[in-house]
Amino acid sequence: MRTVITGQLPASPPPPSGEFGEVRIPAPPTPLSRERLLEEVRGATAIVSTLNDRIDAEVADAAGSGLRVVANVAVGYDNIDVSALQDRGVIVTTTPGVLTDATADLTMGLLLSVTRRLGEGERLLRSRAPWTFELGFMLGTGLQGKTLGIVGLGQIGRAVAHRARAFGMNIVYTSRRRAPEQVEETCDAVHLSFEELLRTADVVSLHCPLIPQTRHLIDAQSLANMKPTAYLVNTTRGPVVDEAALAEALSAGQIAGAGLDVFEHEPEVEPRLLGCDNLVLSPHLGSATKETRNAMTQLAFDNVRAVLRGDDPLTALP
Ligand code: DGY
Repeated sequence: MRTVITGQLPASPPPPSGEFGEVRIPAPPTPLSRERLLEEVRGATAIVSTLNDRIDAEVADAAGSGLRVVANVAVGYDNIDVSALQDRGVIVTTTPGVLTDATADLTMGLLLSVTRRLGEGERLLRSRAPWTFELGFMLGTGLQGKTLGIVGLGQIGRAVAHRARAFGMNIVYTSRRRAPEQVEETCDAVHLSFEELLRTADVVSLHCPLIPQTRHLIDAQSLANMKPTAYLVNTTRGPVVDEAALAEALSAGQIAGAGLDVFEHEPEVEPRLLGCDNLVLSPHLGSATKETRNAMTQLAFDNVRAVLRGDDPLTALP
């Protein structure tokens, strides 16, 4: 039995032992190149993967017929060809729930940073350019009474709604399936079509998964449908936004600003975006707190342990 962990782990929890069989954590550099990934997974019973690893039929075949579980340390699983694995009898698990608060907090951080121009302000100070307090100096946009448009009212979308309510925002949302009435009530959220949401929202925040239907959901047309005073925040997956179209819209002042934690071709960032002052950037930090990364890792290990024992994993994909 062999458990292969593809990435570097946070300081705790300690790497699994005993019932996980031989535990292999490849030496840096990580993320593993495709070649190394295929090499490292040979003979694996369990693979603990991160969103950097494309886990598909080729990887499953490289691991061999003993592979029983792939535990992705992420709630998103667009890096995994789920049906290719499930067709081979491999269980796929993810880490929902434990990263909801951290990701919602970071969403609010980006939302506040872009609407209150914190990035611009910090750049100004660090540049040592002269400045002075003036009544009209570096004015941003207040959130009270404004409308937040949430795209995807899953666990993270809901957590963002609760936080935004505390900031005095009104909530509208759109999603493939309308949320149960009780969820709409607790989030104080009104369901709209995607087009209505774009036309109505002062801030559009993306919380939908990356699936073929959501790739470039925010394209030139969607950006043109937003208010010129509106902001866009993306903490889900980069390819949900057409970065070239966003760079164009930001440079042209077609929307007021954006906050991005994720990028279309990570770790690359569309060079034209880097020149946009009305854009706040963070390097995929949504779940990056010590507590959350430990909880994610622990949950992935718990899933592997369950499968290897013959029990039901806690958070398997259907
Ligand atoms: C996820 O879990 O999908 C995040 O993007 C990484 O933590």
